[in-house]
Amino acid sequence: MSDPNTNITGTPNPSPTPPAPTGVTPSPAAAPPKPAAPKPAAPAKAGGKTRRFFLASLVGSWFAIAWTTLTASLLAMTLGTVRFLFPNVLSEPPARVKVGFADQYEEGKVVERYKDQNIWVVRYNGVIYALSTTCTHLGCTPNWLEREEKFKCPCHGSGFKITGINFEGPAPRPLERWAIAVGEDGQLVVDKSKKFQQERGEWSNPESFIKV
Ligand code: FES
Repeated sequence: MSDPNTNITGTPNPSPTPPAPTGVTPSPAAAPPKPAAPKPAAPAKAGGKTRRFFLASLVGSWFAIAWTTLTASLLAMTLGTVRFLFPNVLSEPPARVKVGFADQYEEGKVVERYKDQNIWVVRYNGVIYALSTTCTHLGCTPNWLEREEKFKCPCHGSGFKITGINFEGPAPRPLERWAIAVGEDGQLVVDKSKKFQQERGEWSNPESFIKV
C-alpha cells in the first residue's frame, strides 16, 4: 500500500491549505467598506409650502401693481411736461387762415364759413374785418341772426351788432377782431395770433381791417 502523504516520486505531498476559521473578521484589504447611503430628505410639510407660495405670490402681485402705477404716473407727468413745453406744435390749429378774395364778400353780410376756426368775416361800411366767435361774457359761441342783424349768445342772452359791439345781456365788452391782410396770392389772410379790442381803441389799427 502507498503512503497517502507521498506522491509517485516519493516526495511528500504539500500539506493542504487549512480552511479559514469561521467567525473571524476578514482583513480590511480584502473588501473596502461601502460608503453609507445618504438618508432620504425628510419631506417638507405640504401646508408650509403652500403658505410660502401664497405669500410670495401676494408680495409679487403688490410689487407688480406698485411698479405699474409708478410707471404710468411717470409717463403721464412726462407727457404733461411735453404738452406744456410745446402746446402749439402738438395740438393747436394754425393761426393764419386764408379766407378767399375780397370781392367774394358782399356788403352787409356775415360769412360763417370759418366759424369752426373761430372766425366770422364781415364786409360792412366799406371795410372787411374778422371777428372772433368767442362771447366776451363767459366764452360761449353766439349765433348770427341774419333777419335781426345781430349775434346772439345762447348761454346768457348777450347780443352784439354786426360790428361786434355789445348792446344787450351780460357781455361786458365787444367781440374781439383778428388781424387781417391781403396775402401774396391776393387772398385775404386772417392772423389769429394778433387780436384787437375796441375798448382799447385798437379797431383803428390798420391791421384790424381791409379797406375795399
Ligand atoms: S357766455 Fe355769452 S352771454 Fe354768457
